Amino acid sequence: MTDAPDPLIQPWILGDLQLPNRVLMAPLTRARAGQPGDVPTALNAGYYRQRAGAGLIVTEATQVSPQGKGYAFTPGIHSTDQIEGWRRVTDAVHDAGGRIYLQLWHVGRISRPELQPGGERPVAPSAIKPDAMTFISADSGMVEVGEPRALETEEIPEVVEQFRRGAVNAREAGFDGVEIHAANGYLLDQFLRSGSNRRTDAYGGSVANRLRFPLEVVDAVVGVWGTQRTGIRVSPTGSFNDMVDEDPVATNAALAVALQTRGIAFMEVVEDSFQGNHADGRPESVIEAIRTGFHRSYIGNGAYNAREARERIREGRCDLVTFGRPFIANPDLPERIRRNAPLNDWDEATFYGGDERGYTDYPTLPDNQAGSA
Ligand code: FNR
Repeated sequence: MTDAPDPLIQPWILGDLQLPNRVLMAPLTRARAGQPGDVPTALNAGYYRQRAGAGLIVTEATQVSPQGKGYAFTPGIHSTDQIEGWRRVTDAVHDAGGRIYLQLWHVGRISRPELQPGGERPVAPSAIKPDAMTFISADSGMVEVGEPRALETEEIPEVVEQFRRGAVNAREAGFDGVEIHAANGYLLDQFLRSGSNRRTDAYGGSVANRLRFPLEVVDAVVGVWGTQRTGIRVSPTGSFNDMVDEDPVATNAALAVALQTRGIAFMEVVEDSFQGNHADGRPESVIEAIRTGFHRSYIGNGAYNAREARERIREGRCDLVTFGRPFIANPDLPERIRRNAPLNDWDEATFYGGDERGYTDYPTLPDNQAGSA
């Protein structure tokens, strides 16, 4: 079967959006938003434009509200300036022939009073201090997060409303769709998993209760974007940000069925730890549970290379793959995969914060201008 077509460079219809290939760009925080105001800049637009050859770009996580912010220099989608800044980004990507979804983010307990409106304590499902770090300024280094305040039941609709407004603003900014961030230990994930959710109201306890808030967010976002342009990201077994769930198969089987019923376009699953270390293998039983319950597009993520991505697509384990670090270092990743060309290595020192170095200066193949394919 050596001449079978490479599934990675075959098109795919995601929801109602036609993608030219299945090499998608994963959401990647780069902490280079313009200051003050966490506003996307021309530099950010240039970075995304270079990567417009992706089947789909999912942006870096973007706070839906001031309360949703957990790190210095991450962009928001709650002010007029931010909407205008993102418009520059979406125009640049569309000019280059690309497609781009915004990742909607609320960090919950992964924040610090220094980053919160009024210097207040960050909010979470329960007042449990995670063993986790953040950065609050250019020279803060990594600092520990503290004990959050548990959201009152009556406050939850307002947090759902923050996501709805973020979704509305994303439309205004010219995105093609949105991905709800329910992964990596941030607010929605904190509700989903038993280790961080000890609530005794309708939003905690049973699996159905732990799903309630994330599903209310999904419904609010679908109300803005429709099912075909809404997706979600989960990380069922990731431990980043001190996360644990007593039964990831049960939680995610129920989530998959609920999302299938709602009909959203995709689930993106971080099948791995945040840092892409899958020494223990991918969590096949959870993946199976999700594939069984959810029949729309399944996007795999985590330490994939092209060979493994192809294999898993051929085996029916996933439909598409998002690449994170390879896309940081290779703006023209799909073209390199198509040509079987070597890849640039990434430089971790320039992942977060700084200027164009390690951001827009990774080389493309000599005769490939991003977006020209
Ligand atoms: C990430 N990751 C991430 N995930 C997410 O949902 N939203 C985000 O904003 C970020 N930001 C981010 C920044 C950086 C510098 C890294 C390295 C990672 C996780 C990322 O999307 C992906 O899941 C991992 O990088 C694993 O995939 P790769 O890199 O092995 O393809």
